[in-house]
Amino acid sequence: MSSQVVPQTMGQQFGRRSWAEPWKIKMVEPIRLISREERERAIREAGYNTFLLRSEDVYIDLLTDSGTSAMSDRQWAGLMLGDEAYAGSRNFYHLEDAVRTYYGYKYLVPTHQGRGAEHLISKALIKPGDYIPGNMYFTTTRLHQELAGGTFVDVIIDEAHDPTSTHPFKGNVDLDKLEALIKRVGPEKIPYVSLAGTVNMAGGQPVSMANVKALRNLCDRYGIRIYLDATRMAENAFFIQEREDGYANKSIAEILKEFCSYTDGAWMSAKKDHLVNIGGWLAVNDPDVFDVARNLVVVYEGLHTYGGMSGRDMEALAIGITEAVQDDHIRARVGQVRYLGELLTDWGIPIVQPIGGHAIFLDARRFYPHIPQDQFPAQTLAAELYLDSGVRSMERGIVSAGRDPETGDHRYPRLELVRLTIPRRVYTQAHMDVTAEAVKAVYDAREQTRGLKMVYEPKYLRFFQARFERL
Ligand code: F0G
Repeated sequence: MSSQVVPQTMGQQFGRRSWAEPWKIKMVEPIRLISREERERAIREAGYNTFLLRSEDVYIDLLTDSGTSAMSDRQWAGLMLGDEAYAGSRNFYHLEDAVRTYYGYKYLVPTHQGRGAEHLISKALIKPGDYIPGNMYFTTTRLHQELAGGTFVDVIIDEAHDPTSTHPFKGNVDLDKLEALIKRVGPEKIPYVSLAGTVNMAGGQPVSMANVKALRNLCDRYGIRIYLDATRMAENAFFIQEREDGYANKSIAEILKEFCSYTDGAWMSAKKDHLVNIGGWLAVNDPDVFDVARNLVVVYEGLHTYGGMSGRDMEALAIGITEAVQDDHIRARVGQVRYLGELLTDWGIPIVQPIGGHAIFLDARRFYPHIPQDQFPAQTLAAELYLDSGVRSMERGIVSAGRDPETGDHRYPRLELVRLTIPRRVYTQAHMDVTAEAVKAVYDAREQTRGLKMVYEPKYLRFFQARFERL
């Protein structure tokens, strides 16, 4: 089945046409679809916010790929090897080795998850009044930069904001935009460039090796550091291997390490690429930055040899890092996302192109051109999809974008999207078929659909807890 939709290049690279998962299933977790009436009650009680649903009321859970992956038998075995010492756990040293081997950074600070590391790097480097340029915002990343007194400035290429542009590296930094910012505010006001690979909010879009090299040159001219959000960087490496000249015969591991070599450090939500249910880290090359971060971690996360993780968590994570950079794993992972995306594309359903690494992003503007953005078209679409089929997705539009801290108005992002995020090694191709049919049913009913009004709005990261009612 998959051979019809996988691009030739992927098959050729591996010497055969179709991909299959490089694993078989040893344990299963039952799931069930509750009735339409029960779904109606569940989504109403959740204030039309899929974050507020109980997971038992969900059939296929595509809310996020964060912490939702299936661990391997090796990782589960690793849990039994947890060294739960408060200080100096052997599992910490395994983790440190794995990060050095595959990412190449010198110093490691473990954290409980990605935002713990974002907090540390933001607090360590940002002064009030600073500017942090980046290739599109991510919700928690930007918030920590703002809480540290900084202002995030989007310097991604324009194509990233256009869901129909098929640019192969829509995550690239626009170096002219960056240089204009440097000239306007001065390099001393820019503690670092916040570079993410892949770019979540743009649709899981990659950054090219050429772009990060050119970025390094520009930043060196002004003495500006580059810190990488490496959360889905193994997936980014896959796109470089597939699309960039000179990388077809390099392994994911080699590409990943080369990419990281152009940056000064990275933060990581290990809940994604690294195939664990909890965990994160910050890794840097500069001993002074390390010193500050290692001191802050004991204030906010835990001792610098566990940072909020248990020993067993660190062991599963160290093993997950090695599994995450295997070529056959990444190929099947991205292959499954593509399988879903190509079904939808064939049926004429508007999604962000090209299909990214971790998710399919439905273009809610083109589903519901009759619903104005302040009636939350993407929030509406996510609720409708759940109602139709028990598939849980996530809003990535005006609700996620939040309010401008200066003016208090909604930010109106150009991208008004719903994310169908595929957990790693969890669902089968049949689940993807059912999901595609659900999206089609909601698309076919699009003209009758009305928007929502927000009736409760929390101060920070409102998308997690906001409540809505039907108009
Ligand atoms: N950076 C990126 C690119 C992310 O996608 C996330 C989390 C984080 C940082 C923060 O990491 O959750 O471990 O604290 N993204 C999840 C998502 C929540 O659903 O996309 P965290």
